[in-house]
Amino acid sequence: MKRDDLLISNEIEKQAWELLEKSIVYYQGRPIGTIAAGEASQLGLNYDHCFVRDFVSSALLFLIKGRYDIVRNFLEETLKLQPTQNQLNAYTPGRGLIPASFKVVVNNEQESLEADFGEKAIARVTPVDSCLWWIIILYAYVKASKDIKFALQPEFQQGIMLIMELCLATRFDMYPTLLVPDGACMIHRRLGIYGYPLEIQSLFYAALRAARKLLICAGDAEIVRGIDNRLPLLQEHIRHHYWIDIHRLNVIYRFKGEEYGQTAVNQFNIYADSIAYAKLARWLPKQGGYLAGNVGPSQLDTRFFALGNLLAILCSLASDRQSQAIMNIISEQWDDLVGEMPMKICFPAVEKEEYRIFTGCDPKNIPWSYHNGGSWPVLLWLLTAAAQKTGNISLAQRAIAIAQSRLSEDEWPEYYDGTRGLLIGKQARRYQTWTITGFLLAKELMRQPNYLELISFGEFDLNNASRSCDL
Ligand code: GLC
Repeated sequence: MKRDDLLISNEIEKQAWELLEKSIVYYQGRPIGTIAAGEASQLGLNYDHCFVRDFVSSALLFLIKGRYDIVRNFLEETLKLQPTQNQLNAYTPGRGLIPASFKVVVNNEQESLEADFGEKAIARVTPVDSCLWWIIILYAYVKASKDIKFALQPEFQQGIMLIMELCLATRFDMYPTLLVPDGACMIHRRLGIYGYPLEIQSLFYAALRAARKLLICAGDAEIVRGIDNRLPLLQEHIRHHYWIDIHRLNVIYRFKGEEYGQTAVNQFNIYADSIAYAKLARWLPKQGGYLAGNVGPSQLDTRFFALGNLLAILCSLASDRQSQAIMNIISEQWDDLVGEMPMKICFPAVEKEEYRIFTGCDPKNIPWSYHNGGSWPVLLWLLTAAAQKTGNISLAQRAIAIAQSRLSEDEWPEYYDGTRGLLIGKQARRYQTWTITGFLLAKELMRQPNYLELISFGEFDLNNASRSCDL
């Protein structure tokens, strides 16, 4: 890097750290999280909350910098918000859930925490991802601080077990994947991702991997057996049924329909006409591939969802070969998936009639905006981590350079719009915390790749699953 560039880069990072410091939420004098956005939010909106999913990149940064207290306080306070009793009625949050977000409220000079489990959220969407992220943050905390005793406290062991009970409960369906309503994760508006969205499956797999380690010392043997049973089935299901590359597309294209019985090849009865196979065949590079957005009865959502794919690499839900192929498609289809701002939350956008049906005519999710094909700088850290894990460093460098050239000048927007991400998001907040932390974390992971271990897992091997408290 030239001297001037280095000075600018240092200046931007310094500003980002200061902004992160300003975003810290204090509760009874202790730091417990970070607010979603620094820009004064519109009345009634919740950008002054600390969101569990938004806090992940803040938490990893604090851990890297040795500021364990904030993450520890966050984990303690959010655990206290987890309901431990059976549901009071159908409108109250279920046992084991972790809220989407919380904020500090003051009444008669007394501070308390007010949580949102989706009962106040726009469209009343359920934050399924929060409890999964919570376990992942706890794992990262223990890994960084080496404070295994923290996770072994009875209330923490119970917290993990309640989440596992929720995830592993007997349900109506017979797939190893998790069935969730639309908008149950980072995309928390209707976008046709109900059913078995990849993001939730990757998070589920990562949370199972983390819980498997954290429950070892004190855990309930039955739950550990449940995890051991589920991990290989989930892995096999995703690697097989979600995988799309040119070979697989050839198979899908020639699928027979209406197969009945155990020997059916086209198990989900996918009709090739339901997917844009001609476009997809042109788009898929010879050596590239990715995991589909969703798979269910007669449904194969071929949109590329970044968070699910990148996380699948980090937790080894995708095989080594698949992980390389995912990085390869990102590199070969750079203009579509990264363009002028890393990176697209999903590609392509749904347009015209599909837009109307999938989103319910949502004006915030018009084609190439927000969740519907917008570009989200927070994804930069996941792209960087996946690039590190797979040895594609130059890809991460390229993406970070793009982000660095725009983010600070644009005042750290929440998201960008347009097919290449050239426009600042129509309704994007400025000074969005996870935009800031996504950038800082990407930088830190480049400097100190050893911290990848806080969020990354090797191939799961049931026979060698560790039986010690050593993470
Ligand atoms: C956006 C995102 C959501 C995030 C929230 C707060 O609506 O879709 O995932 O948690 O803003 O930043």
